[in-house]
Amino acid sequence: MRLLVTGGCGFIGSNFIRLVLEEHPEDEVLNLDKLTYAGNPENLKDVEGSPRYFFQQGDICEAEDVVKAFAWKPDTAVNFAAETHVDRSITSPEDFVRTDVLGTYRLLEQARELGIRFMQISTDEVYGSISAGSFTEESPLRPNSPYAASKAGADLLVRSYVRTYGVDAVIVRSSNNYGPYQYPEKVIPLFVTNLLEGRKVPLYGEGRNVRDWLYVRDNCRAIDLVLRSGRSGEAYNIGAGQEKTNLELTHIILEIMGKGEESIEYVPDRPGHDLRYSVDTSRLRELGWSPRQDFEGGLRETVRWYRENAAWWEPIKSGEFQRYYLERYGDI
Ligand code: NAD
Ligand code: TYD
Repeated sequence: MRLLVTGGCGFIGSNFIRLVLEEHPEDEVLNLDKLTYAGNPENLKDVEGSPRYFFQQGDICEAEDVVKAFAWKPDTAVNFAAETHVDRSITSPEDFVRTDVLGTYRLLEQARELGIRFMQISTDEVYGSISAGSFTEESPLRPNSPYAASKAGADLLVRSYVRTYGVDAVIVRSSNNYGPYQYPEKVIPLFVTNLLEGRKVPLYGEGRNVRDWLYVRDNCRAIDLVLRSGRSGEAYNIGAGQEKTNLELTHIILEIMGKGEESIEYVPDRPGHDLRYSVDTSRLRELGWSPRQDFEGGLRETVRWYRENAAWWEPIKSGEFQRYYLERYGDI
């Protein structure tokens, strides 16, 4: 396969490219990435020398950049590129509408013109919050944050390109990922690196919100499976069924890192904070996927990775992130 991957210098995209190059020796990958604050070429340092890996710096919202990437003649395009952090979408929604909606449209247009398969990397957040039970792929989209709404807009565009133009497209909606190379604005790497720096961890509200934690490598295996075997026009939920409240999550992290309750700083809640995400993954499991990584083991491995790779995250935390953090959390 000749795969065009967008947003491959981010957290999940970089893990996905590494998995494809390892598991499919005949595949070639072109990574189109704008290198926003979240994009880091260091995430793919180990594959840079591969003759099967190519990189183009560019913006999925710019028609010229997208046309140039498709001129490489991929037979499949996978769209990871997005603005991804809910808190940033609350303070600066415009970037989310632009990249997550307009950018997806530009890619769809090219996939339509070239007649190639298109995969949209979406999120369980498009369904909104559910207090009991789990959303199926047929549940209505009821997003609550500007991030989730922009991702839902992209999903609906994909649907329309399937119905109207017959584009061969699939969507995956995964739950919260964790693992190596995740930008430390997200809760797990933020808490782990704060504790490594001797700081406290800012827990929103009472820590009662529930997320289903999926190890990034398991997600990448699911994405790869759906890419190659998923039915055209379908969406597939991805989740590990490892639901934890944020308070439970925090206690497990504190225990792994040998810290106590006094390291928790309760801070004001996020506006519109979704209480619980949960997806039914029967459709994906019918394709033969199941998660391999248990939560505690994955979290231990993740803590070990951040402990051993301070050279990766320290420059991030002392760079762009420092101002963002101070404005948000003060000196916690
Ligand atoms: P990330 O923020 O770590 O990385 C995003 C990448 O996209 C960066 O490399 C960035 O430079 C690139 N990018 C942003 N705007 C771009 C543009 N206009 N043109 C080209 N490149 C651009 O994100 P992530 O956590 O790896 O998430 C990847 C995808 O998975 C996103 O679409 C996200 O919505 C989805 N997702 C993430 C999670 C999660 O837990 N992280 C869960 C479900 C779904
Ligand atoms: P996050 O990693 O931002 O992912 P998402 O909002 O996309 O699920 O947050 C995960 C959960 O952790 C969410 O319920 C919000 C909470 N959270 C905190 O309690 N403190 C924090 O500093 C952050 C960033 C998140």
